[in-house]
Amino acid sequence: MVQIIHYHDRDAIKTIVSALNQHRLVALPTETVYGLAADATSECAVNKIFIAKQRPAINPLICHIHPDFDLTDYAHIDSRIEKIMQELWPGAISFVVELKQDSPIAPSVTAGLNSVAFRMPDHAFFQSVLKEFGKPLAAPSANKSKSLSPTKAEHVALSLAHEEELLVVDAGQCPIGIESTILDLREQVPVILRCGQYTLEQLEQKLHMRLADHSQSPSEKIIAPGQLLLHYAPQKPLRLNVKEPQQDEIWLSFGNHDRIHPLELKLSPKGDLDEAAKNLFDFLWQADQTKAPYIAVAPIPQEGVGIAINDRLCRAAHKTVKAKIE
Ligand code: TXA
Ligand code: MG
Repeated sequence: MVQIIHYHDRDAIKTIVSALNQHRLVALPTETVYGLAADATSECAVNKIFIAKQRPAINPLICHIHPDFDLTDYAHIDSRIEKIMQELWPGAISFVVELKQDSPIAPSVTAGLNSVAFRMPDHAFFQSVLKEFGKPLAAPSANKSKSLSPTKAEHVALSLAHEEELLVVDAGQCPIGIESTILDLREQVPVILRCGQYTLEQLEQKLHMRLADHSQSPSEKIIAPGQLLLHYAPQKPLRLNVKEPQQDEIWLSFGNHDRIHPLELKLSPKGDLDEAAKNLFDFLWQADQTKAPYIAVAPIPQEGVGIAINDRLCRAAHKTVKAKIE
């Protein structure tokens, strides 16, 4: 059974660390989405993540670390990579680097690749757990593979309802709401594998270097994983760029408008993309719970975090078979 505990509960950290030490799974809040965490150095614990998510074993996991951890224990980190990490961590960005051969990271975390993704979350509670636990935590989004990412504890409880002994820590809604950017640092020109809160231009400006962007090359292969064509999908068919929703659609609107639609969820009435990103997955979860058989989403500007929103929406709509033309 799924057990929800509140992050302010007395002994919450102690309870979680003890569960992690027993190789159990714990769903933890981060600033992006909730993660399904396990001891990244334990093959037995990490295997439970793949089983719970029904995730293909060829899709590697992100390892979460605390500022006190020495990354050189796990991966090859030179001064170029260290500088980039210092510039952008802690935060909503994961870095792919070369795995050290004698690294204690469990082989299934990296799906047998000789690279590994790390993220230092900017979330006080997650960091406290990492500090107390003292080892990296492998944590993919805490949902069934290919389905909607969880931005609230109740999404995790819905998605992983049948998990025995799963602890879910409730810290309210994740403030960013979109998964981390993934940046591959192995080449001189770093490559964006998944877009997130930061745009290419913002990253180039912060890092004073050119980047390559492979985030929009959808693939059915797991080479730049997170980029599977079908991903983040609600259960209902999803129609995009909809300005005139139909009666049987629940409509996720964006910005100010004077249309009256009985089933509307406002991603951001004032047209704020950060607010829309925060609400996106929650509203798709809600839309799946309503009686409306179909979901429609208003056009989202292709700028700032809107680029990541549109990326997720396109993947979410990939399986939509409903041929409805506005
Ligand atoms: O914001 C986030 O990144 C959240 C929170 C919980 O940290 N995590 C998350 O994990 O979104 P997940 O598993 O849903 O997505 C991680 C992505 C996957 O698409 C995986 O294929 C990719 O990271 N990844 C992990 N290791 C990789 C590697 N060595 N090379 C390329 N991609 C990698
Ligand atoms: Mg995911």
